[in-house]
Amino acid sequence: MEHYNMNLTLKVWRQKSSKEQGRFETYQVSDISSEMSFLEMIDVLNERLIKEGKDPIAFDHDCREGICGACSMYINGRPHGPWHANTTCQLHMRAYKDGDTIVVEPWRANSFPVIKDLVVDRTAFDRIVQAGGYISVNTGNAVDANAMLIEKDKADAAFAAAACIGCGACVAACKNSSAMLFLSAKVSHLALLPQGEPERKSRVLNMVQQMDKEGFGSCTFTEACEAVCPKEISVTNISRLNKEYIIAGLTEDK
Ligand code: SF4
Ligand code: FES
Repeated sequence: MEHYNMNLTLKVWRQKSSKEQGRFETYQVSDISSEMSFLEMIDVLNERLIKEGKDPIAFDHDCREGICGACSMYINGRPHGPWHANTTCQLHMRAYKDGDTIVVEPWRANSFPVIKDLVVDRTAFDRIVQAGGYISVNTGNAVDANAMLIEKDKADAAFAAAACIGCGACVAACKNSSAMLFLSAKVSHLALLPQGEPERKSRVLNMVQQMDKEGFGSCTFTEACEAVCPKEISVTNISRLNKEYIIAGLTEDK
């Protein structure tokens, strides 16, 4: 595709802290290259704001290659912007045309309070993982890769679930702010593997308990989460999570 430059109007959510009210601020940006990434476009605007002695827009990012999950942004009403199975950092300006208006907001969910501007506190996810998203193994030499044989369909499903980067787009897209897609990915990838077996029951019970404690909403199966997930995590994982939870609850050692 031909490279082109464009002038854009940005409406960006500005909020000094979780204690203060936020508002949209409008910025005109010019000569934006279609080759730039969305985050580079914000970098350009921020350099200008700094030169003008103004506060730059705070936004989260780390890897800028779709693996860390930090770049949470709600762009024109969709988490991570218009491209399917894509993170904000992988979104490029060729998704837009000259004269477009782009509205940029933080994730909106009570469990993800705004820290500043577009940055939200996603440590609720960390606490859910700390509640059980791990396996306990004896340390020592790494086990030979072929020592534990795993059926191909299970290995594939576990790998697909493990692709979740904890970005929170599923929560942001859900009308109930449910974290079920995220949790189902974390529970599934361990429940499907023999390494996850010893803590299988306590893991799901503890992680669900922590999710409820964090105040995430219930899943009413609208599948909005799957539609926006940059890693295409399937809602079939939610069915697996529900099954794991029921079995663990019924057979738990009291
Ligand atoms: S399930 Fe998808 S949308 Fe949700 S946190 Fe994981 S990668 Fe992000
Ligand atoms: S900055 Fe790491 S996934 Fe976007």
